[in-house]
Amino acid sequence: MTQTENTPAVQDTPLVPIEDIVSLCKRRGFVYPNSEIYGGVAGIFDFGPLGVELRNNIRRYWWWSMVQLHDNVVGIEGSIITHPRVWEASGHVENFVDRLVECKKCKQRFRIDHLPPENLEQNKCPNCGGELLEPRTFNLLMETYLGVIEGERMKTYLRGEACQNIYLDYDNVQKSSRMQVPFGICQIGKAFRNEVTPRNFLFRQREFEQWDLQFFVHPSEMEKWFDYWKEFRFNWYQGIITHKDRMRLREHGPDELAHYAKKAFDIEYRTILGWQEWEGIHWRQDWDLSRHSEYSGEDLSYTDPLTKERYIPWIVETSGGVDRTFLNLLLDAYEVQPDPTGKDNPRTVLHLHPWLAPVKVAVLPLQKNKEELVKTAKGIHNNLKRFMVSQYDDIQNIGRRYRRQDEIGTPYCVTIDFQTLDDQTVTVRERDAMSQIRIHIDELMPYLLERVTWK
Ligand code: GAP
Repeated sequence: MTQTENTPAVQDTPLVPIEDIVSLCKRRGFVYPNSEIYGGVAGIFDFGPLGVELRNNIRRYWWWSMVQLHDNVVGIEGSIITHPRVWEASGHVENFVDRLVECKKCKQRFRIDHLPPENLEQNKCPNCGGELLEPRTFNLLMETYLGVIEGERMKTYLRGEACQNIYLDYDNVQKSSRMQVPFGICQIGKAFRNEVTPRNFLFRQREFEQWDLQFFVHPSEMEKWFDYWKEFRFNWYQGIITHKDRMRLREHGPDELAHYAKKAFDIEYRTILGWQEWEGIHWRQDWDLSRHSEYSGEDLSYTDPLTKERYIPWIVETSGGVDRTFLNLLLDAYEVQPDPTGKDNPRTVLHLHPWLAPVKVAVLPLQKNKEELVKTAKGIHNNLKRFMVSQYDDIQNIGRRYRRQDEIGTPYCVTIDFQTLDDQTVTVRERDAMSQIRIHIDELMPYLLERVTWK
C-alpha cells in the first residue's frame, strides 16, 4: 500500500484553519450542518453528494485492507440499539463520564481534562478569568426507550462505542465462521455520545461513525499482536496522507487510560488544534468477554481445538473515527496556491489520494457549442462512469473547469479538443503537477484505472 506516483510531493504548507474546511465543505457539497433550516443542532452533521462519495471510499478502503486482505479477519454489522445490560457490563453506565466545570461569570463550560493546569489550580476561567463553579459529572450515553406503553417502556441506550456488538456476536461469529484464535472481527458503524462540549466541526460530534477491529488472541500472544496492529494501523494512515511528519504514536499515561484498557497508544495527527487523537490502539485484555460472561451468565470462553486449553481470549482493539479521518484527510489535503500569473486568482486544491478522491475524473469538451466535441466527450464519460465516478462538465472556460475540479480533489481531467476528432487522442491533466499528456482514447480507461484503484 503505497502512494501512487501522482500523489503530491507537496511542500510543507501552513496548518489549515478549520473554518476554511467548513466553508469548502458547505460550498462544494461535502458536509452541511444538520437541521440547518431550524437553526442546526450542535455536534451533528449531514454529508452531501461529494461527502458521501469520499466517506464511502474511505470506508471501503479500510474494509478492503482490514477484512479482505486478512484471512483471519471477518466483518459484521451490528445494531445501534442493544439490551441495556450491555452498557452495565461494558462499564459505560458507571464510568463513561465527563467532568465539567462552568464559569460563574461568562457561563462557558469546560471539560476538566481539557483545562490548562494553571486554570485548574487557580479555579480560573480560561475565557474571561471568572471563577469556576464546582465540577459536575455527566454520563455520555444517549438514552432512548423501547416500547410505547407508559410503565412498560424499557430504557436503553444508543451505542456509546460501536465495538460492543463485536463482543455480543463474538461467540456466534467464531462458531458460524469456524474461526480459530487468533482471529479478528471488524465493524464500521455509528456511535452516539452526549458530548458536553461538541466542537471543531467533525472532530467531536454527538453522532459519529467508528471503525473497529477487535482481535482475539491467546494471552501469551497479546504483546505480539498488539505490536503488529499498532504498526499496521500507523502505516495504513501514513499511506493516505501527504504530510507524513504530522503523524505520531503516543502512549497513554496511567491517568489517561479508559476504564477497559490496560495499555493504549493513540495515533495522533497534528492540525491547527494541535496533536489530537485519530485512532486508539487498546490492550483490552479479557475485560470485555469476562464482563459479558459475568453479566449474561453465558460462558464466552474458547477451547483451543489442538491443546484443548480453555480460556477467555484477550483483545487487541484498533478503534478510529470515519468522520475524524474525513476531517483529517481534508485538513491534510487542502492547499491554497498563489496565482502563478501574479493576479488575484489563487488555486485551491485538495491533494486527496486518488484512491479516495470523491470524483476520479472529469470529462471536458473544449467547447460546448461544437456538436462533435460534445458527442465524443459524452461517449467517453458514459463509458468511464461504469467503472469510476466521472463528471461531465461543459460550463465556462476550461481553466475555470480545471479549478472547480482541483477544489474538490479530482485527480484527472480529460479534455476533448479538435485534435481528438482527427486522431482519437485526448489530453489528460493531472491535478497536483498540473502536467498534461496526450493519449489515445483506447488507452484512457486502463490509464485511469491503474491510478485510481487500490491494489
Ligand atoms: N471502542 C473504543 C473507543 O470507542 P475512543 O477513543 O473513545 O475509543 C475511538 O474512540 C475513535 O472514535 C477516536 O479515535 C476518534 O477517531 C473517534 N471518536 C471518538 N469520539 C468522537 C466524537 N465525539 N466525534 C467524532 N469522532 C469521535
